[in-house]
Amino acid sequence: MKEREPASPETLYNETYENYRRYLNPPLARVMKLSGSPVEVRASGTTVWDHTGKAYLDFAGGYGVFTLGHSHPRVVAAVKAQLELMSLSGKTMFDPLVGRLARALAEIAPGDLEVSFFCNSGTEAVEGALKLARAATRRTKFVATHGAFHGKTFGALSVSGRAAFQTPYAPLVPDVVHVPYGDSGALAAVLEGAAAFIVEPVQGEGGVNVPPAGYLTRARELCDAAGTLLLADEVQTGLGRCGALFACDFERVVPDVMILAKGLSGGVVPIGAYVVRPSVWQAAYGQAPLLHTSTFGGNPLACVAALAALEVLRDEALVENSRARGEQLLAGARRIASEYPSVIREVRGLGLLVGVELTHEGYGGTIIPEMLKAGVTAAWTLNMQRVIRLEPPLIVTAAEVERGLEALRAGVGAARDRLGTLTLTN
Ligand SMILES: Cc1ncc(COP(=O)(O)O)c(C=O)c1O
Repeated sequence: MKEREPASPETLYNETYENYRRYLNPPLARVMKLSGSPVEVRASGTTVWDHTGKAYLDFAGGYGVFTLGHSHPRVVAAVKAQLELMSLSGKTMFDPLVGRLARALAEIAPGDLEVSFFCNSGTEAVEGALKLARAATRRTKFVATHGAFHGKTFGALSVSGRAAFQTPYAPLVPDVVHVPYGDSGALAAVLEGAAAFIVEPVQGEGGVNVPPAGYLTRARELCDAAGTLLLADEVQTGLGRCGALFACDFERVVPDVMILAKGLSGGVVPIGAYVVRPSVWQAAYGQAPLLHTSTFGGNPLACVAALAALEVLRDEALVENSRARGEQLLAGARRIASEYPSVIREVRGLGLLVGVELTHEGYGGTIIPEMLKAGVTAAWTLNMQRVIRLEPPLIVTAAEVERGLEALRAGVGAARDRLGTLTLTN
């Protein structure tokens, strides 16, 4: 059979754009084209290559997926070997891998978090945690925070905090109360009778919001007093992203349920999970072990990927690197903010989750494409369009952080020169 000629870069771009425009999401395709999005064809470590062969330093990091960078060789090797043996589990027999992964998580999770449930994405893990909370407490009410992002399935969307994503689907899951993020007084006022309080230790998509010190500790105390479960959504903050293994660790808070996804399997195979106290699991499912299940959840490929990813995280001291490089990135971005106060309102973050809040969202439409031109990717936050997130892999080097910052400086400078001073938005 004759081998097919590889498509020229232009042909590949046009074909991909047309497929997006016609068969996927026409308005999104147009926006991506306007903002200069190329076609990604290959990725390794901190680098992504586009259809023309241009290399980009990845500071978007798959919104937190690529903690180990792209295609970490140890994770890829583990997955390849498993692929030869058995890729999906039949589920009628015991599978050693899912057991090993559950044990590995119990060993690193805070306190007595010990029993895991596995699924395939963050939103499914949130969904599972919410159901578990209702089943364990026999209560219905959920308390959540404004600006939160927990995913887009019905339950997760109902406890998220952005009306624009919710309104078209109303009515959502009932009995959800939202309170301002970081405000433990407001939390205290509504917790009574709640099944669970779900919270991100740092809000990612809400605009990289770091709560006041002591917030999680106070939330833990309030939940204990109300008999309410504390669900920590560490989908984005967990596994080293914030410079600790889990962001809850900063305050030594042990939630009742910890929710994970994104970086858990090293950015190679999709996975989601929650880890729960045995007593809570027992209260929910002790008499009904098949109430909540998933066909593909905890499949062998995802499990070997996650086991290898956890080893890499430890062996390459990536949590420590996240802390050190995070401080460098935060300090550097703050210097740029002080040079351009008319464009940047504030820089905040924890570890390698850094948000650059603009004075006006109009600047972002110049800054992100300019950064791309300079060979660095960056992204918005989903619930707060005025915040650009910098979320490189935890393997990022000091020199790469400087390159990322240079691109940010160039983007911010270009935005100011081109757009002048835009009126401050609230
Ligand atoms: C904190 C948090 N929870 C849940 C989710 C949903 O994860 P997924 O997109 O894998 O469903 C996200 C995704 O960005 C997230 O940041």
